[in-house]
Amino acid sequence: MSQDQDKDRWAEVDRYLAGALLPDDPVLRDAVAASDAAGLPAIQVSPLQGQWLAILAAAIRAKAILEIGTLGGYSTIWLARALAPGGRLISLELDPAHAAVARANLVRAGLADRATVRVGPAQESLHALAAEGLGPFDLIFIDADKTGYPAYWTSALALARRGSLIIADNVVRDGAVADAGSQDENVIAVRRMYDLMAADPRVNTTVLQTVGVKGYDGFAVAIVTGSP
Ligand code: SAH
Ligand code: DHB
Ligand code: MG
Repeated sequence: MSQDQDKDRWAEVDRYLAGALLPDDPVLRDAVAASDAAGLPAIQVSPLQGQWLAILAAAIRAKAILEIGTLGGYSTIWLARALAPGGRLISLELDPAHAAVARANLVRAGLADRATVRVGPAQESLHALAAEGLGPFDLIFIDADKTGYPAYWTSALALARRGSLIIADNVVRDGAVADAGSQDENVIAVRRMYDLMAADPRVNTTVLQTVGVKGYDGFAVAIVTGSP
């Protein structure tokens, strides 16, 4: 099969599985529609990936979730719904227009009481969260600009506790991440994050490669096993 046929097949199977397994969800559908209408790029996690994030959050009974990269709040909704009772989610977003769409989507989803969006460069917000003594977070989802991943990883770890999960999206990049000579700044940054993960005795890390409607990519998942 050609590469195009592979991609079509992955997307077709992804849509089949999502249709077979996920209930029709008007809130999530409206959130995507509102994001599209506002001109946001359609780069949110897929429905099945959203469910996967929610399963991880529920499995660890997360009460404090931190997201880096909100966009229109699609992954935010999946994660916020999975919070344990009384739990809170903070999502960090650079673009005020994206944050406005996300906030409206969170209101419509009935989650504005537990999920808030902070506007600004994520690295500044991460320092502010630490300075305010917020945290530790049970689950941290890194999904903003890829060049920031090494710094986000380091800050995320500082805001975690033993047992926390740190998840990073888009860490396979059509396989380009295996190219040690890559000149792509996103690939270089993701590889630098892997170096930090691998050198850190306080975490165990894996990567799940994924195919589907978003093509060929992957998620890194790290569990904090030592005291950050
Ligand atoms: N997590 C979302 C998708 C996020 S897309 C979902 O799956 O639904 C990445 C987002 O990161 C974009 O909205 C982009 O504006 C934001 N972003 C880019 N650079 C950033 C930075 N330096 N700080 C915070 N957010 C940033
Ligand atoms: C892009 C960003 C993402 O977070 C993603 O999941 C897919 C694409 C991007 O910047 O192109
Ligand atoms: Mg992503």
